Amino acid sequence: MDLADAGVFARATVEERTQLMKTGRIPVSPLVWEHALSGQPPAGPPDRIELTVALVKDDRVLGSVALLELDWINRSAETASYILFEDDRSLGYGTEAKMLLMEYAFDHLRLHVLNSWVRTTNTRSVAALMKQGFRPAGRKYWTGTKDGRYVDHLIFDVLREEWLAARDAWRERQASRTPSSAVSDDGS
Ligand SMILES: CC(C)(COP(=O)(O)OP(=O)(O)OC[C@H]1O[C@@H](n2cnc3c(N)ncnc32)[C@H](O)[C@@H]1OP(=O)(O)O)[C@@H](O)C(=O)NCCC(=O)NCCS
Repeated sequence: MDLADAGVFARATVEERTQLMKTGRIPVSPLVWEHALSGQPPAGPPDRIELTVALVKDDRVLGSVALLELDWINRSAETASYILFEDDRSLGYGTEAKMLLMEYAFDHLRLHVLNSWVRTTNTRSVAALMKQGFRPAGRKYWTGTKDGRYVDHLIFDVLREEWLAARDAWRERQASRTPSSAVSDDGS
């Protein structure tokens, strides 16, 4: 992520349907994002890595993916992904970005396992995680709120072999789509 991304991330926080990033309906100014993005980098290995997701063809910012709670000793991390605006969701961008994040996590950082937390109400995110190879690992009660009610979180995890099998299946489906809608191996 860099400073130039602050404006678009701030704009997404005022999209009422989204209620991203635990700010609820409180809009967040670009200044807040600029402050967060210009902080000092950590002295040692970071405990989180956040990356902006942008279209290859015109560099338009779509959202972000991240590795959180990075545990360099036990080689685990939590993944997060946000496609900022509704019009860009359910088009496969979130899964393509996550596949690249997982390749980075498993094949470059050599992590052993990734996990992800999803509110029970977020059925689209569950569907996306299952496509990406994640498997149900548990449930944590009363951990979130949605529309003024308490909701639970479902926990998912994935090992490298499970991700590889899911990526093969995803690539096969991509290859069988029409050329205009297909996503190539290099992410373009
Ligand atoms: C979750 C998110 C990152 C997924 O990215 P995406 O680009 O929308 O996901 P994809 O298009 O790759 O896959 C979504 C799948 O859910 C399906 N889907 C769409 N709406 C759905 C719904 N209401 N319930 C169940 N499945 C749904 C889509 O059909 C698609 O499956 P398919 O490819 O088999 O048809 C994105 O939707 C997003 O940012 N949502 C808001 C923020 C968020 O929830 N972040 C995750 C927090 S845990």
